[in-house]
Amino acid sequence: MVGELRQHARSARAVAHANIALVKYWGKRPGAGEDLNLPAVGSLSMTLDQLRSETEIGPADADEDRFELDGELVTGAVAARSFRHLDRIWRHFGGEGATRPALRVLSRNFVPTAAGLASSASGFAALTLAGTAALTTALDGASPRDRFAPLSALARRGSGSAARSLWGGFVRLDRGERDDGSDCRARPLFARDHWDLELLVVHTARGKKSIGSTEGMTRSRETSPYYAAWVRESKADLDAAEQALGRRDLTALGATVEHSCFKMHACMLATRPPILYWNGTTLEVIRALWDARADGLEGYATSDAGPHVKVLCRSEIAAALSERLARVTGVLGIDRVGPGPDAHVEVLP
Ligand code: DP6
Repeated sequence: MVGELRQHARSARAVAHANIALVKYWGKRPGAGEDLNLPAVGSLSMTLDQLRSETEIGPADADEDRFELDGELVTGAVAARSFRHLDRIWRHFGGEGATRPALRVLSRNFVPTAAGLASSASGFAALTLAGTAALTTALDGASPRDRFAPLSALARRGSGSAARSLWGGFVRLDRGERDDGSDCRARPLFARDHWDLELLVVHTARGKKSIGSTEGMTRSRETSPYYAAWVRESKADLDAAEQALGRRDLTALGATVEHSCFKMHACMLATRPPILYWNGTTLEVIRALWDARADGLEGYATSDAGPHVKVLCRSEIAAALSERLARVTGVLGIDRVGPGPDAHVEVLP
């Protein structure tokens, strides 16, 4: 990719929004270099307004990397994963052989961390942009957005869903075929104002998820008898969802969204030992949603590596549907979120 390493790191700031997959990613390609993090399937997502990560990166005061999240110093595996990602950026732009300058990373998450709401997506997308702007010239000049595409492949190596968080609106991450992952990058399909949709995030529990997605995916690939079928059908779901989005056909899109979600969770459940992210309230919300749909409130469910339910619907019925789902016992709260903007990056003075 165009762009060179800078002699000295500088300060840069990036904002990237979370996203929710409408067609899911679950599973990694075996054999590919672990560090490439190549997905077995493509995915398609809606970027979310409001929920975002803001990351500032600059030269460290001392000789060591430092990572602060929401004002607290982070150490251990979480910090190491972020520093490894900065090493990747450094090597990607030709830093092999030279030592990467120590960096200070200040990040704020406006997303409930590790609750199945994909804070890793916005987090690694913002880290990729701020890290690239701090260490290289690749994003200098006008319209840096036009240079996001190759960075999407880099963000993917930090976390698969992060590849999708560089753009607003509706985004597709292609699986790609190449072993080096250079064609496994996301692309924006439709801008945020393409369609007046909303996502209701229905919270059904507090706290962190039981098993991380990286570990869960490996276990599903190794032991779930449904895994092969899951992977085989993904491309058809992606194409169907993209077409339904294009013609603003909520009934067709919703059918594919639910099918993709339930297939992924079926694959998880058939893993040994089973992976079950849902709780009782998750199921009650899904049933209430289907009842509401039968009554003419058209919403469709999806859920990720956590117990929350996300409901896709038109804005005009979002308030009525939200009110109805809030009545389900066990629901802790509902956030209404629209399609979000592109990620943004700037060099600080
Ligand atoms: C269920 O992107 O968190 O949310 O690549 O291992 O970091 P890693 O996984 P991650 O997985 C997201 C899984 C999902 C579905 C999705 O967002 O597509």
